Amino acid sequence: INFNKAQFKAAYGLPSQIPAAEAPEVVVCGRSNVGKSSLINKLLGRKALAKVSQKPGKTATINFYDVDGVYLVDLPGYGFAKVGQAERKRWADLIAGYFDQDRSFNLVVCLVDIRHEPQKLDREMVAFLKERELPFVIALTKADKISAQKARNTKLRVAEDLGVDTDDIYVTSSAKGTGIRELQARISEDTLEE
Ligand code: GTP
Ligand code: MG
Repeated sequence: INFNKAQFKAAYGLPSQIPAAEAPEVVVCGRSNVGKSSLINKLLGRKALAKVSQKPGKTATINFYDVDGVYLVDLPGYGFAKVGQAERKRWADLIAGYFDQDRSFNLVVCLVDIRHEPQKLDREMVAFLKERELPFVIALTKADKISAQKARNTKLRVAEDLGVDTDDIYVTSSAKGTGIRELQARISEDTLEE
């Protein structure tokens, strides 16, 4: 994949609006504010294609980016406490509704903040991905906030804790660029046409 050949495709607020799958999809999910939009920008070598905000709950729609013929999908973050019950339910329905569709889910990149032990919602998401047998990797985000040694230890602990192979866990920093090339390579590999 040429990650520089990226453009915004569309945003959807309801699962029913999402058109039938036209390309392999790589999905980015994770708790609100974990760094999904930042990671997407970094992967695509862009400053602000995906909107980043210090305020959690920035991305409230499912956003599709066309990356050299592969669709990169930015999901709204789960578990944002400050939006109302109705809005939270809309988000949950949107995410579940998307995964219920008959699409080509080539890879789900599930983001977890490297500074915190996986939280309840992280565990639920991983359990959901395993149950659905969706191909997924974990990207630990904001690695620039801790030492490299601590990051390596956290990776091992998270692997054990979530029951995920260490080869499927990436230590990343959108601020520093850590792990971005490795994640790009994995995405390319998992979206190769047969
Ligand atoms: P929602 O769309 O609200 O779910 O958030 P998101 O997961 O898309 O997070 P976003 O990329 O908007 O980033 C949230 C905040 O974390 C922003 O203030 C970013 O600048 C910061 N951030 C994201 N990635 C990194 C990183 O690698 N390092 C550091 N230090 N901060 C980061
Ligand atoms: Mg976002």
